Amino acid sequence: MNDSADNALPPISVEPLQIGDLVIDPPILQAPMAGYTNYAFRQIVREYGGVGLQATEMVSARSFVWLDQQAEFPDRLWGVEDEARPLAVQMWDNDPDTMARVGERLVGEFGVSVVDINFGCPVKQVTQSAHSGSYLLRWPEKMFSIIQRVVQACAPTPVTAKIRLGCSRECINAHEIAQVVEEAGAAALTVHGRTAADFFKGSADWEKISEIKPYLKKIPLIGNGDLDSAAKVVEAFRSYNVDGVMIARACLGRPWLFAQAAAALKGEPVPADPSLTEQRACLLRHYDLVVKRFGVEKGTMLMRKFACCYATGMYGARAFRTAAAKVSSQAEFYEIVENLFPRDPAPEAVESAGAS
Ligand SMILES: Cc1cc2nc3c(=O)[nH]c(=O)nc-3n(C[C@H](O)[C@H](O)[C@H](O)COP(=O)(O)O)c2cc1C
Repeated sequence: MNDSADNALPPISVEPLQIGDLVIDPPILQAPMAGYTNYAFRQIVREYGGVGLQATEMVSARSFVWLDQQAEFPDRLWGVEDEARPLAVQMWDNDPDTMARVGERLVGEFGVSVVDINFGCPVKQVTQSAHSGSYLLRWPEKMFSIIQRVVQACAPTPVTAKIRLGCSRECINAHEIAQVVEEAGAAALTVHGRTAADFFKGSADWEKISEIKPYLKKIPLIGNGDLDSAAKVVEAFRSYNVDGVMIARACLGRPWLFAQAAAALKGEPVPADPSLTEQRACLLRHYDLVVKRFGVEKGTMLMRKFACCYATGMYGARAFRTAAAKVSSQAEFYEIVENLFPRDPAPEAVESAGAS
């Protein structure tokens, strides 16, 4: 969606989101994304603004407990202790006691604002091997005991749940799960409008997300799936029965998307995308933060995929993306960003295009 189209959006009245005692304003959330939403990324999103609540990558509750015996915290908790609030940490497992222990520590030692539980992950290592994530959508009683135990352990910090519509198109049960989540004491429910079997195929079904709303009496519903522009965020609030929205993939190379969506919700002009020069600077800042934490070798590897995200959809980005996918040293990283990241057109070119 281009900016000029977004600039014409008529205003819409949207209330802040209430999660327990927390007020989330604007009601636009940054999704948890394993391998992506680390401290560096969250920091950059926060600087652009417009995001109501940010989330970490999902953390395995079991390995948290195990790592703790080795006196270490998972890399996925990088930054959590000190960064700005509100902040949600997401965890996954299937054992209520382990999750309650971890929840209690996330609240007591890290002071997180929200503990989110993953009931949506469809990957085999989580579902088939660990009977967790979206696997649990088939076991509402088990979900109930997990949530109830974690809520007790974390009180008064709110506990939330993130689900998909069901395990497959044949067993969509999100409305039933929504009631279980609410009765177990969760403070909000996020629904990704696909089933686990869909993975990322097809489109998110926002009608089905909307249909869940009447089943929730006390807690807010957050819709998620395929929101990739300010216009779509406004449309989600206008056309569907949700209290908040969550953005995932589209913000990876566009951390300024939240600021654009927040402006659109208020009926303000949507800020234009940063210039390509600014986007290049943003990518380099992101790289530096990651390298400072993980060192050059691991940091450069981690940034390959991010560099590709920053250039997604840009004219002339193919050579950059091909090179970024293989980059292996700091010098090489700087070199490809300098030489291959798409550039703003020279002012003379813009002027002559305007004159023609
Ligand atoms: C690379 C990647 C990693 C993800 N990791 C998580 C995760 O750790 N926890 C989670 O609940 N969802 C995770 N998701 C799912 C997203 O949070 C979101 O539900 C999904 O991408 C749909 O939203 P979107 O269409 O805005 O991308 C992940 C998605 C992607 C693409």
